[in-house]
Amino acid sequence: MKLLIATTNEGKVREIQKLTLDLGVAIVHLGDPSLPDIPEAVEDGETFAENALKKAMHYGTLSGLPTVAEDAGLEIPSLDNWPGVHSARVANTDEERVALALGKMKEIEGENRIGRFVSFVAFYNPSDQTSEFFKGIVEGEILEEPRGENGFGYDPIFYYPELKKTFAELTSEEKNSVSHRGQSFRKFAEWLGKFGIQLISK
Ligand code: IMP
Repeated sequence: MKLLIATTNEGKVREIQKLTLDLGVAIVHLGDPSLPDIPEAVEDGETFAENALKKAMHYGTLSGLPTVAEDAGLEIPSLDNWPGVHSARVANTDEERVALALGKMKEIEGENRIGRFVSFVAFYNPSDQTSEFFKGIVEGEILEEPRGENGFGYDPIFYYPELKKTFAELTSEEKNSVSHRGQSFRKFAEWLGKFGIQLISK
């Protein structure tokens, strides 16, 4: 039984491999040589859920495999949830995206510096065209300066008060245990173990 993880991000593949270890599913990802050539999915949805489902349906339909895809980003409520679904595209590099966010937050103080990472995982089964969603969300504070070398994206300015560190100061295990993506993938793996295995082995 094969499950396609619609990503080229090795971190995401490793994480889902760990979470589904006991389920007896073979994980393949987009770089797998057994897959046909599949053009890249267009991520032009207006919500994380829409983009995750678009990716899962695109790669699931073209590969014929049950497929899981994720879309995630940062939301800052005091900036009308900017950058949201555009998190990856508001500037060209992680450093520029962080600098842009810090610039927009310059005049913003205290409780208004709350931010949250949101992750939506979508599962699509091409054999019966059904889908499922799994959501993860983690709240923190946007710092005034970056801190830490780990992680990626907005991690250096995302302070997680419970651990008194930014996400870029956590090990990948620590981050996975609390992050939006860890939560949504754990919910997916739990669902797959309970109900999904029967569905995808039909
Ligand atoms: P993707 O859905 O993993 O492609 O994430 C979209 C963008 O959201 C990334 O390029 C990052 O800018 C931001 N993002 C998503 N998840 C994280 C995270 O865990 N840490 C930092 N930035 C993130």
